[in-house]
Amino acid sequence: MKAMSKIISIDISQLKPGMILGQDIRDNPNGIILLSAGSKITVKALLAIKKFNIQGKCLVYTEECSIGSQENHHQEIIKQKISRQVPIKINKRDLQARKIYKDTFKTVKDFYNKSGINANVDLYDITKAAEGIAAEIISNHQVLIQIALLKAVDNYTFSHAVHVSIYVSALAKFLNFTTKQLQEISLAGLLHDIGKMDIPLDIVNKPGKLSDSEFSIMKEHVRYSFNRLCNFSELNDNVLSAILQHHERMDGSGYPQKLRGEQIHHWARLLAIADVYDAVTTDRVYRNALLPHEGAEILMGNSGKLDMQYLNIFLRNMTFYPVGCKVVLSTGEIGTVVALHRDMPLRPVIRITGEDSKDIRTINLLNNLTTFITGIVKD
Ligand SMILES: [Fe+2]
Repeated sequence: MKAMSKIISIDISQLKPGMILGQDIRDNPNGIILLSAGSKITVKALLAIKKFNIQGKCLVYTEECSIGSQENHHQEIIKQKISRQVPIKINKRDLQARKIYKDTFKTVKDFYNKSGINANVDLYDITKAAEGIAAEIISNHQVLIQIALLKAVDNYTFSHAVHVSIYVSALAKFLNFTTKQLQEISLAGLLHDIGKMDIPLDIVNKPGKLSDSEFSIMKEHVRYSFNRLCNFSELNDNVLSAILQHHERMDGSGYPQKLRGEQIHHWARLLAIADVYDAVTTDRVYRNALLPHEGAEILMGNSGKLDMQYLNIFLRNMTFYPVGCKVVLSTGEIGTVVALHRDMPLRPVIRITGEDSKDIRTINLLNNLTTFITGIVKD
C-alpha cells in the first residue's frame, strides 16, 4: 500500500480507488472544486466524477493498492448506487407548496421569455411570486426545499431560478432576515440569471463542458442580468449587488470583477451558496445530480470559495432527509429516517424494516461513519 513517488497523467476514466490526485478536478461553469489535489480517490469520489461526467486527463500519484482485482468490484458498486437514485413522491398534504412551486416556475418562465423579446416588462408578477416563496419558507421551509431537491427539472434556467430562490430564502430565514428582506432576496434568486436570455441558446443549453471561449461568453450573463435590471427603481442595492456578484468567490477566483472576501456583498455570498448547491444537486442532460448530502460535501470542499460562516449555517439547518423519508444505504438496505441530529442533519437515524414491516434494526449514521445514504426511494 505504499505510494509511488511518480506523478503521471492519465485519463480521468482510468482513475481508481487509492490513487492520489496530483491536481484539482473542477466542474465548470461553477468553477467549484469537486476533488482537491492531494486527495485520495475513493468509491464516492469516482461516483461524483461519473455523475458530473468529468472527462479529460488529470495528474495522479499512483499507489499499489489502486491497481488490481478491486476494479470490477468498485465499478459494480458505483453502477448500483447510480441506478438506485429515484425521486421520492411528494406527500399529498403538501399540495399548497407544490402549487406555489408550479406557479412560480410559470411566472419565471413568462418573465424571462418576455424579457428576451421586449424590454418593457414590469416586475409585478415576479415580485408577487417572490413574496409567495418567502411566505411559504417562513411558515414551513422544509416542504419547498424537498420539492426543489426532488423535482424532475423541466427547463434548467427556469427551474434553477426557482430553486435558488427557495434555498436563498431558507438561508435568509436561518439568518433571521426580516420578512421584507426575505422577499427581496427571494426576488434576487428568481432574477439572478435573467442575463442568460442574452447568451446564445446553444451555449446555455450545451450538453457538456463549455470550451474556454464559450465559457467567456457565458460569464457575461452576470453583467447582462445587471444591465437588464439596474433601471428598475423597485430593486435596491442589496438585490442588484447580489445579482451582479453571485459568481464572485471569496478567494478572488470568481467573476466578473474578481472581488474577494469582504469586497463581496453579503447577499451575493448567500446567493452563491444557493446557486452552487442547486447546480450540483440538479440532473442535467450530461450528468446525474448529486444526492443532497453529496452536494453538501462538495460545498464543504469549496469553503475557500464560499463564505464558510454562511455555508455552515446553511448546511446545519437544511433538513435534506426529513423524518419519514425512505433511503437506500451503502449496505444495500432500505430504511426510513426516524430521527435527526440537530447539528448533523446529514447523518440521520435510520430504521431498517423487513418485508413483514417488522423492525430489524436501527442505525445511527452519526455513529456508523462507514455507512452512508446512496439513494432516495419512491414510496
Ligand atoms: Fe449565474
